[in-house]
This record gives sequence, structure tokens and C-alpha cells, in this order.
Amino acid sequence: MPETSEIVKNLLRWYRRNARDLPWRQSADAYGAWIAEVMLQQTRASAVIPYWERWLASLPTVGALAKADADQVLKLWEGLGYYARARNLRKAAQAIQKNHEGKFPERFEDILALPGIGPYTAGAIASIAFGQAKPALDGNVIRVLCRVDGVADCVKRSEVNRRLRRRAEVLVRRASRAEKPTTSKTQCSPNPCGDFNQALMELGATVCLPRRPLCDLCPLWRICRARKNGLAESLPNLGKRRKSMRRNHVAIVLRKRGRLLVRRREAKEINGGLWEFPSNEAGAGDPGGFQWLEKVWRQPPDALRILGEIKHSITVNRITLKVYAAEVKRGFRNLGESYRWILPDELERLAFTGAHGKIVRWIADSRCDCGQNPPQKISREEGTL
Ligand code: ADE
Repeated sequence: MPETSEIVKNLLRWYRRNARDLPWRQSADAYGAWIAEVMLQQTRASAVIPYWERWLASLPTVGALAKADADQVLKLWEGLGYYARARNLRKAAQAIQKNHEGKFPERFEDILALPGIGPYTAGAIASIAFGQAKPALDGNVIRVLCRVDGVADCVKRSEVNRRLRRRAEVLVRRASRAEKPTTSKTQCSPNPCGDFNQALMELGATVCLPRRPLCDLCPLWRICRARKNGLAESLPNLGKRRKSMRRNHVAIVLRKRGRLLVRRREAKEINGGLWEFPSNEAGAGDPGGFQWLEKVWRQPPDALRILGEIKHSITVNRITLKVYAAEVKRGFRNLGESYRWILPDELERLAFTGAHGKIVRWIADSRCDCGQNPPQKISREEGTL
């Protein structure tokens, strides 16, 4: 295996010269680091920046987050996906208020015990905000370690994951004994453990890319086993991929006297707490979703207007969402607590699911009159995907 000390020395030197200037790196504040790490779990740093800045401006402290309204939190998260993360941030802030007098806990076990925080996030916060020698193993770090050490075993095996975790631990412990820099591009006080973990993440995000890695720019070029053996692009070994599934969904934008019908998804559903227009999956017996549309609209669906089609993916599901619109004159009362008739201006204040957020933008851009114009006939063929 390549020398631990050489990996640490080269990576720290590279990071101190090349670290991106990201706003959460400008202070060692645990709250800011925590919000950033949770946002970064599924999203690139450049996309996270405006979300993080808006979040910190609206909810600058643990106390503000603990007291915030659930809808405000979801609105600030809108577009980042995996909304359980936003709900957990609020729950964790309430737990910090209750159990730690509003101060972000420093003990690793206390950080790990907070809702929504797993070993990766706990390790990242403990090292970045508190300078502790804890590993932080995410997808980027796993890729870097597998390549440097030439690990060809499937990383989904728990024994391989444990081995990589131990390796990351040895490396960050070594970093804790590294010389403190005299000059550094990283603004905070010298923190070799935090810098080292971020260097691994940074290398994975900017150089050691999943496809076409930029080996020529890599500070570990000389010692990287995968590069030496021509295996850089084929590692890590991720095992068999699950097959993707195509699914058809339909949605309807109903307008009654200038108001639009929306529904809040129930807590137990995926994207629970977010808003959407009435929608349904089109089953095998009704691939165009016309039976459901007829039931909701209470009229034959042939005269519905089609607004457009949205393609999006949730995990392995590749979803095509056909969106229809219609004007209704009366009725549609007592639909249940989760439904609301709202003015188009109010749409902006609610947090919508990713796909339905696109419909909201169509409405805001006036691309859609949502049923005000005379219906345009659609053929059943068109709805059959
Ligand atoms: N990905 C996750 N956390 C990160 C961090 N602190 N810096 C860069 N990329 C990251």
C-alpha cells in the first residue's frame, strides 16, 4: 500500500494551494459546517452555495432553526431533493436546544446521536469544526481510497467498507500529527484533520472524477496504484447496478374561479410535507392515466388540455409525468384536509416536489393558462406513453 505519510503530506500541500473558496470554509462554525455537509450529501458544491447562503441568512443559528416553521424549512430546501434531510435538520436543532443548551455538541457520540446524522456527517463535522481525528467516508473519498490503494473488491461489501474506514482513520490520525502550515489558502486557524478530510473530498470532486479522472493534475499521481495499473477508470468496483424502471404518471392542474387545486403529500409518503398538483401513477391497465383523470375531473378526459411533459428520476425510477389542465365551475369541495384551493401568487410560498415545481414555474412564466382557454382535444393515443 502507498505510504500513509506521503499521501497525507501531498494531499495537505495540494489542498492548501488549491482549496475552492466555498463560503462555509470561511469560518469553523459547527452550525454552518453541519448545514453545508447535509446539503452536500447529494448535490455539487457549486449548486449548494446559493442554498447555503439563503439558509444562513434566514436561519443563522441553531435556535432560529429549532423555532422555524416546518414549511419555511422545506421552502429553503426546495429543489435540493431528499426532503427528509431538511426535516431532520429541524428535529436535530430542537434536540440541540433541549439536550445541549442550544450549543452544537462537540463529542463525536453526541453529534452521531442527532437525527439525520450518520458516521460520514458526524466525522466531517467533528474534523472540520472541532479538529478531531475522525474519518469522513463519502462516495468521493471511497473512490479516491480505492484508486490510491488499488482496492478491486466490491465496495458494497461491509467488510470492504470497514477496511476503507480503517484506512481513512489511519490517514486522518497521521494528519493530526502533520506540521501546521505557515501559509494556507484555507482561512480558518490551522486544522490538519479538517483540511485532510476536505482534501480527500475535494480531490474526489475535482480531480479523481468517476469518469475520465484528471490524473495529470493529481498530487497522488506518482503513488496511485490504479493509475499505475491502468485501472483508474474501472475503480471503485460498485458491483451490479439495479435496473432502472420506466413509470408513467399524470397530473392535473384544476382551476376554479382563479384558484388552483393543490395537495400536501402525507408525512409517510416520499417527499412527505411537500406540495403538488393532484397526480397519480398510470397503472398497466390504464397507461395514459385516463381512468384516473376522468375520476378526478368528473368529465370525459378527451377535452382536457395538455400542458406538457416532464421527465425526472427518483432513485432507479425514470418517470414521465404528463400534465393536463382544466377549468371547473363548481363542486370539488370537501376534498380532505390535505387539499387547498390557492391563488397562483401563493404558489411561490409553498415548497413543491421537484417535478411539480416545474409546473409552478410554467404557471409563473405564463406558459400555461391552466384551463382558461378553450380546451384543445387530445387523442387517447397521445396520452399512451
Ligand atoms: N463534499 C462534502 N463535504 C465537502 C466539503 N466540506 N468540501 C468539499 N466537498 C465536500
